[in-house]
Amino acid sequence: MLEAKDLSKSFGGLKALQQVTLRAEFGHSVGIIGPNGAGKTTLFNLLTGEIKADSGHVSLDGMSIDTEPIHERVKLGLARTYQVPRPFAEISVRENIRVSMMEDNLKYMLRVAWDDTGEQEIAESVGFTAQQLDQLPSELAMGDLRKLELARTLATNPKVLLLDEVFAGLTYGEIEHISNLLIERRKTHGTTYLIVSHDLKALQPLVDDVLVIHGGNVIKKGTFDEVVSDPQVQNAYLGTG
Ligand SMILES: Nc1ncnc2c1ncn2[C@@H]1O[C@H](COP(=O)(O)OP(=O)(O)O)[C@@H](O)[C@H]1O
Ligand SMILES: [Mg+2]
Repeated sequence: MLEAKDLSKSFGGLKALQQVTLRAEFGHSVGIIGPNGAGKTTLFNLLTGEIKADSGHVSLDGMSIDTEPIHERVKLGLARTYQVPRPFAEISVRENIRVSMMEDNLKYMLRVAWDDTGEQEIAESVGFTAQQLDQLPSELAMGDLRKLELARTLATNPKVLLLDEVFAGLTYGEIEHISNLLIERRKTHGTTYLIVSHDLKALQPLVDDVLVIHGGNVIKKGTFDEVVSDPQVQNAYLGTG
């Protein structure tokens, strides 16, 4: 499904990512952990085409997408949330979701044809109240901005969803709500997830495999239990990083 091979990226002299290889099968879910500055967001930026890799390849459904720009990758079903939410500031929650739905042309045309209220459904699924639909992003708390970030991504009808610190700033109840939504969506749509999170407790029930990145390198790959019990991983987290 989503495959990255030997992805490398340097910023000046800083090797942010070095020959990272990963594979996420259809309907599988991979957790990505590692200390701040490890290269997790850079990996997402390379997968989505936000920045260009120095070397390496990305493919989706067996097709190379190295030359596809971001919006084409979105159309092919690859979408992501941002660690720092990026809504359109001037328009409401409802409009933000609607604009994202336009990325999914077919669904958008059907919505227009049937006057469907798709954006309302998506908004409710992530836990927005009806009143919040008409609010501006500036009126939302951090937790709600994260929900909007997720809603906008779901509106593109992704096959592969990259979630960057999607739980940061959420309450326990909100984390549970979003987790259930992700688990449910995976069952109904077979969605593939790559999930960056520092919250290991939240990550555990969501992922089949975990990849640990440290200093731009994958230092461990395995099941959640294998990874968290690994001394090298514990050292990367608990040591000076
Ligand atoms: N656009 C950029 N320009 C220069 N350095 C960057 C850029 N993006 C990331 N970095 C650096 O690359 C390293 C990895 O960053 P990042 O991928 O954001 O880490 P993480 O998401 O794991 O915290 C950090 O040292 C960061 O400062
Ligand atoms: Mg990051």
